[in-house]
Amino acid sequence: MTSRIEWVGGQCRLLATIAEEFDRTRPFAGLTIGTGIHLEPKTVALLLTLRRGGARVLSTGNLNTTQPESVAYLNAHGVEAIGGPTQDEAVRNGHIDAILDAAPDLILDNGGDMYARWLERPDARLRGGTEETTSGRIRLTPLRERLDLPILVINDSPIKQFAENRHAVGQSTVESFLRITNMATNGRRVVVFGYGSVGKGVALSFQRAHAFVSVIEVDPVLRMEAMWDGFMVPDRDEALSAADIVITVTAARDVVTARDLAILPDGAILINAGHLPVEIDVPGMAADRSVATFGPTDAGISTFRMRDGRAIHLLTDGHMVNLAGPRPLGNSIESMDLGFSLQARCLEAVANGEVGRDSCVVPVPRRIDEWVARAYVELARIRPATRA
Ligand SMILES: NC(=O)c1ccc[n+]([C@@H]2O[C@H](COP(=O)([O-])OP(=O)(O)OC[C@H]3O[C@@H](n4cnc5c(N)ncnc54)[C@H](O)[C@@H]3O)[C@@H](O)[C@H]2O)c1
Repeated sequence: MTSRIEWVGGQCRLLATIAEEFDRTRPFAGLTIGTGIHLEPKTVALLLTLRRGGARVLSTGNLNTTQPESVAYLNAHGVEAIGGPTQDEAVRNGHIDAILDAAPDLILDNGGDMYARWLERPDARLRGGTEETTSGRIRLTPLRERLDLPILVINDSPIKQFAENRHAVGQSTVESFLRITNMATNGRRVVVFGYGSVGKGVALSFQRAHAFVSVIEVDPVLRMEAMWDGFMVPDRDEALSAADIVITVTAARDVVTARDLAILPDGAILINAGHLPVEIDVPGMAADRSVATFGPTDAGISTFRMRDGRAIHLLTDGHMVNLAGPRPLGNSIESMDLGFSLQARCLEAVANGEVGRDSCVVPVPRRIDEWVARAYVELARIRPATRA
């Protein structure tokens, strides 16, 4: 597994460029960075880059996505990784507290948990930091006044939107479906909930994998956009009653619930690719009277056996399908190299005092987007092999 971490690190070419620069500039010398982000091989490349910038880096993963090999690798390479895989929120809160106990100067958060916890026990050393996700932005926006720190939201960069959210999550959700189920996408009726940047990519990727795709979106304008993009936009219950595969990517809670068990056809497969495992109400479904048993069927697949004989399947227990299943690969290395380069540059800008308190929960500064875009295109230019 170490070789995978090294393979991924070797493909993060933009981060490698930044790390070489950080060796000289040391923007984080003497600073502690507390990070709470999925611990998998691509984040390893980011955390090692921050370390090359002179930081003491403390890290913990998100719920149910921590890969033990990545934790071991980080600990062997100078990054303090706290805790292993857990689905227990209380255990994870303990890991976050351990990081906050070290009074970090900067925070790199993924979902807003660490900032929310810091508000309960504020420490004047914190200069600010970054937040990776849509879910985190939604959570932190109402807390702006209390946070009163520069916090740059990576998700709101146009580069993150198109490279990771639109292109990469769509590809990795299809890849995860194939890997976990070993079933074909061809001719399947797929229902995608949410037509934000992630939903757009998921819908398109399944359509390109020869599925019939319907979109359910509460925003009427986006719903119409889905229609103009060539997707069916039926009523939700009508779509669910004919679904082979249902995918949630809304950042909302209880999108698919126990009520839907009555209308889902036999063999339907439920998948969540949204950040939090709350889009499909798994506990509510498992407790429903119509369910005879609920339990694991195969790695990454659980099944609701209904009293009427139907079976409804659930991938990765409703956790993010591309990061929580067997041998999870996450999003493509290139998309993460881009997003994590934005992370490194934004943390550098906060460390250097280039962004002030008025930049609390705001998008990545345009100049950083432009730097990353230019550097990526430059690195992607074909370099013909030179003859000896
Ligand atoms: N799996 C991954 O690797 C990955 C990567 C990036 C983002 N995400 C996550 O994917 C989720 C979606 O991200 P996004 O950037 O597209 O968000 P977004 O806010 O742009 O889009 C979500 C859409 O869902 C719609 N919606 C909300 N509730 C709904 C409901 N009940 N039914 C139908 N539609 C509903 C909203 O109107 C919105 O258009 C977030 O949780 C985000 O954190 C996952």
